Amino acid sequence: MSDGGLPDKVEDIEIRLLLEALHQRYHYDFRNYAQASIKRRLRQAREQMQYRSFSAMQEDLLHDPLMLPRLLGYLTVQVSELFRDPSYFRAIREKVVPHLRTYPSLRIWIAGCSTGEELYSLVILFREEGLEQRTIFYATDINQDALAKAEAGIYDLDRIQLFTENHRKSGGKSSLSDYYSAAYGKASFDKSLRNHVVFSDHSLVTDAVFAEMHLISCRNVLIYFNRALQDRAVGLFSDSLTRKGFLGLGSKESLRFSRHAGSFVEWARDDKLYQKTDA
Ligand SMILES: C[S@@+](CC[C@H](N)C(=O)[O-])C[C@H]1O[C@@H](n2cnc3c(N)ncnc32)[C@H](O)[C@@H]1O
Repeated sequence: MSDGGLPDKVEDIEIRLLLEALHQRYHYDFRNYAQASIKRRLRQAREQMQYRSFSAMQEDLLHDPLMLPRLLGYLTVQVSELFRDPSYFRAIREKVVPHLRTYPSLRIWIAGCSTGEELYSLVILFREEGLEQRTIFYATDINQDALAKAEAGIYDLDRIQLFTENHRKSGGKSSLSDYYSAAYGKASFDKSLRNHVVFSDHSLVTDAVFAEMHLISCRNVLIYFNRALQDRAVGLFSDSLTRKGFLGLGSKESLRFSRHAGSFVEWARDDKLYQKTDA
């Protein structure tokens, strides 16, 4: 860059101020998310919303409440699939469910549930394994639009082929078509799947523990955090799990460098499933 990198520096200052404004005005705290991806997303937001600068965006963020959901739509990533990475669900079915069966009641937390695909995958799996009736599922996210979609359980029909294939590969014992009805290009998942679900707005960055969980599934969320935030979230999971409770992470995540690694043992290494130790 001809002027010694000055434009980048100004952009860094503006981004810091924008994230600070978002935190002070609305209590959404993205200040310690992984910088490269936050920068990329904010640049995309600025371009697509046609702002001259991040400072101009900040002005609107502070004065126009409609700006908040728009910006959150850029800052959070809503990519998901039913039975995404099928071998993860196969490992839960084969290696975790036998342990969960020994409990009379179960509490499962899907942290960063996005638009609900991971939640429905687990509810269907638990129904197939005869555990749904004794389970409460807590589905949480910071993005309220995503939570509303999760609660509606309606997906484009053209995604169903992939979902069906994933379900089969995960060791599904029924037909996925038993759980949704199709009309007008949409698949609506049966509302009975939500009988045991509590949806809640919860941030892994700023909110407190959910007590006495037997399984926490938090996939493809920690990758967006910096190391300190990842440590905070894993500490939260450790405090939220029962003795010998299970933690599942996404394929790109692990506890290898975590401050809390010593509180867990690997349970199914390739599938990123961990069990809390007694310590
Ligand atoms: C890529 S999606 C993951 C969806 C699903 N878990 C999966 O693996 O298919 C990431 C989700 O994390 C959520 N998220 C981001 N920051 C969060 C935070 N601080 N607390 C809780 N959820 C958060 C986003 O809103 C988004 O819904």
